[in-house]
Amino acid sequence: MSEKQIFQPNAEFAKNANIGSMDEYNALQNKAIENYEGFWGDYAKEKLDWIEPFTNVLDESKAPFVKWFDGGKLNVSTQCIDRHLDTRKNKAAIIFEGDRGDVQTITYLDLYKNVNRFANLLKEDFGVQKGDRVVIYMPMIPEAAYAMLACARIGAIHSIVFGGFSSEALKDRIEDAEAKVVITADGAFRKEKPYMLKPVVDAAIDDNSPVKKVLVVERNHEEVTWNKGRDYSYNELIKNKSTHCEAEVMDSEDPLFLLYTSGSTGKPKGVQHNSAGYILWAQMTMEWVFDVKENDTYWCTADVGWITGHTYIVYGPLAMGATTVMFEGVITYPDAGRPWSMVENHRINQFYTAPTAIRVLHKMGENEPKKYDLSSLKVLGTVGEPIDPPAWKWYYEEVGGSKCAIVDTYWQTETGGHIISPLPGATPIKPACATLPLPGIIAEILDPATGEKAEVGETGYMCITRPWPSQIRGVWGDEERYVKSYYGDVTKDGKAVYFTGDGARYDEDGYITITGRTDDVINVSGHRMGTAEVEAAIKKHANVAEVAVVGKPHELKGEGIFAYIVLKSDDGVADEVAEMKAINSVIKKEIGNIAVCDDIVFAPGLPKTRSGKIMRRILRSIAKGEAITQDISTLEDPSVVAKIEAMVKG
Ligand code: PRX
Repeated sequence: MSEKQIFQPNAEFAKNANIGSMDEYNALQNKAIENYEGFWGDYAKEKLDWIEPFTNVLDESKAPFVKWFDGGKLNVSTQCIDRHLDTRKNKAAIIFEGDRGDVQTITYLDLYKNVNRFANLLKEDFGVQKGDRVVIYMPMIPEAAYAMLACARIGAIHSIVFGGFSSEALKDRIEDAEAKVVITADGAFRKEKPYMLKPVVDAAIDDNSPVKKVLVVERNHEEVTWNKGRDYSYNELIKNKSTHCEAEVMDSEDPLFLLYTSGSTGKPKGVQHNSAGYILWAQMTMEWVFDVKENDTYWCTADVGWITGHTYIVYGPLAMGATTVMFEGVITYPDAGRPWSMVENHRINQFYTAPTAIRVLHKMGENEPKKYDLSSLKVLGTVGEPIDPPAWKWYYEEVGGSKCAIVDTYWQTETGGHIISPLPGATPIKPACATLPLPGIIAEILDPATGEKAEVGETGYMCITRPWPSQIRGVWGDEERYVKSYYGDVTKDGKAVYFTGDGARYDEDGYITITGRTDDVINVSGHRMGTAEVEAAIKKHANVAEVAVVGKPHELKGEGIFAYIVLKSDDGVADEVAEMKAINSVIKKEIGNIAVCDDIVFAPGLPKTRSGKIMRRILRSIAKGEAITQDISTLEDPSVVAKIEAMVKG
């Protein structure tokens, strides 16, 4: 299989697909280009249930601060639940499979009741009001989805912190959002053993914390500390709550949630998404990219702690009235056949995961897919990082039986939903290529120097040149950072345009291949880690004088973290292994396991310009074992390069 090979959509599938040909795709995209507001206004009217209609489609007068569907009133939780009750009351909204194989089916009516009870609890017992921030630090259990939707119902802004983040990382996010409530669980199960979350929350909240109340879902029933007057059991409080809670009437542009993500400085950014535009695109991309039909069962393996979990486990599937699978466990446990046994048992039609997971499943269980009936599968998806052709081929042939389209969905926390992706019934697919912008998304690869469209084969900056409904609305509490981070690098026709931070190139057919980040962000297993964030953590180790962190290709994770550390004590390192462990435990404490370094080199110094700027490009080349092509003669101390190179090679 060469990269040039083209896979046409399955003709049978295309017949019933929501977008079934390139002609249809082109017609939609042309409509959007010719009448942008008409395109989006029509969809917003058709797809959403409005309490009051919007009066204006797009307001760009304060760009890059934009408003979509101004004047409109709606509630995202009713979009996801109430409006399905007439026709889908007994349909499964969520199928939950626990780590130990326990299965729970939650119908739309069950979901309605559970979310309404939860909303009443937050209002009555915790005094949560519209606009309050609620941090959710939860395992992958249905209550995480109830918590999100309950916040949406009462107009509170949720901020989910991935359960793998440490107490320090949780504390930072709580404080930045000034959250008054944390929703957590005692813990959950992983590989049939209980693990804990509540102690992490305890360590994140001190007397100065803005958090006054903690709600604890008892999932694994292990013993936890109950802080009187602060901690409450969800299982107890929920018992006598009413199953009806009036949904708060929200403006289109009222915030729905914050989600913190890494940037190129040490402090994570609270990416803000608002109500109408976000939910509209979440629903539309479910329908277009996954082509989910009424009786389909759809499974996305992400965690709700990341944007993929927000848009494509909870909001998107539920907005369209689909059945979404939620999985608590580990995809390689008890063996690498677990996902395929789940596909067989639940008759899953769309399966969405990250290239890292595909690589691991391939490596650990190349022949596992053969043992299961995977005939229900129609669409396979990938997200989060570039997928390499061998992993793509195995996924296509062994998992998809060479009949399912693979949608390589390119997007980011800030875009809210997919931006560039094949459409399974329309787009001829090239392996490991995100292909074309979705209809309505005006995405272009630009030359940052000129703002002109990049030439075929040239790497340029992946930009989105018109605002779109599900775009980031701001960085929480920092307007300037929003403008600087996303609208500071590329100008087209005299206007600042949104820059994703990724490089990309066109091929001769106009297809887009994402080449990776252009900034100091590393993509570890599809999770974004800012080098500055990892460096700030490492600097907390008492013996660290200087540090520089870069990404290095990793067989399974896509990219691993490589740290060059200069220690304060100049008598060398007595026990390198112990020192590395100590550094990694600081990282675990400050950020979490996801940021642990794969390689650490104790360097005699770092390559710096005379003005003191660390030359990361050189360090990246050394980590990758590449020859150094840059001129090093102008460095403050050129000899340090050869010394580090020798250490890395040695
Ligand atoms: O570098 C791109 C990469 O992941 C980044 C976004 O990370 P995050 O906000 O955590 O969201 C991940 C899930 C959407 C992007 O800037 N990325 C995402 N999808 C792809 C990708 N790189 C290549 N191909 C993709 N399909």
